[in-house]
Amino acid sequence: MMPDPETYDAWYRTTRGRWIGETEYRLLSRQLALRSDETILDAGCGTGYFSRHFVQDGHSVVGVDLDPAATAYARSSQTPPLPCVVADMAALPFADRSFDCVISVTALCFVEDEAKAVKEIVRVAHRRFGLGLLNRDSLLYRAKSRDAGSYAGARWHSRSSVAALLRNLPVSDVRMTTAILVPGGGPLAQVLESITPAGLPWGSFIAVTGSVRPRDESRDWGRSPALFERRKGPGSN
Ligand SMILES: C[S@@+](CC[C@H](N)C(=O)[O-])C[C@H]1O[C@@H](n2cnc3c(N)ncnc32)[C@H](O)[C@@H]1O
Repeated sequence: MMPDPETYDAWYRTTRGRWIGETEYRLLSRQLALRSDETILDAGCGTGYFSRHFVQDGHSVVGVDLDPAATAYARSSQTPPLPCVVADMAALPFADRSFDCVISVTALCFVEDEAKAVKEIVRVAHRRFGLGLLNRDSLLYRAKSRDAGSYAGARWHSRSSVAALLRNLPVSDVRMTTAILVPGGGPLAQVLESITPAGLPWGSFIAVTGSVRPRDESRDWGRSPALFERRKGPGSN
């Protein structure tokens, strides 16, 4: 069970939490390589940590989460308030290609039907998607802590389980990298992280990014034609 929003968000202000959060954000945003005017949906936004970072980098962000307490926290955690919707990411209440990019960080691991949720993420994304997942091939997974606290009940992924999730979806240029090799986050862990070559597969956090293939607008994706209309945002072409 997730802690209350205040406790959850306060973790990002601890020494370890700040380092982990910022390292994950840097990896994901660098890999996504978005233009700052591109719009983002943060699916499973929780208290809005990643939403806030992307807003600070100039993006218009909308958050969506199943938990009303988390969305209330996320909404009021910045000025102007973050637009947030309470909804299931396995049934996103947005038209196809509504946002330039859809991200979802350590949320899919708690969604019952993750294949449906990934399909929804790709459906709602116009150009890019980015997922933050927990790595089964990591020190963190081997540690006992994987079953406790915020990790309790989480699903852990491997490169092959991610590939299986994306198979048959209209995506390309999929890239997977990892970060947070030594999850303790102490000075030694931070030095190690900074000197290890990028691309090692054993970090606790997997950043999966990719492009959504341009779709044939005439093809019916099981929805009425009106739903193909994009939400007009700063990143709309
Ligand atoms: C570990 S938190 C991650 C929050 C945030 N993305 C972050 O990285 O700080 C997981 C979040 O996923 C949300 N969640 C779980 N299942 C969901 C679903 N089916 N639809 C939307 N959100 C969901 C939870 O409510 C929780 O806020």
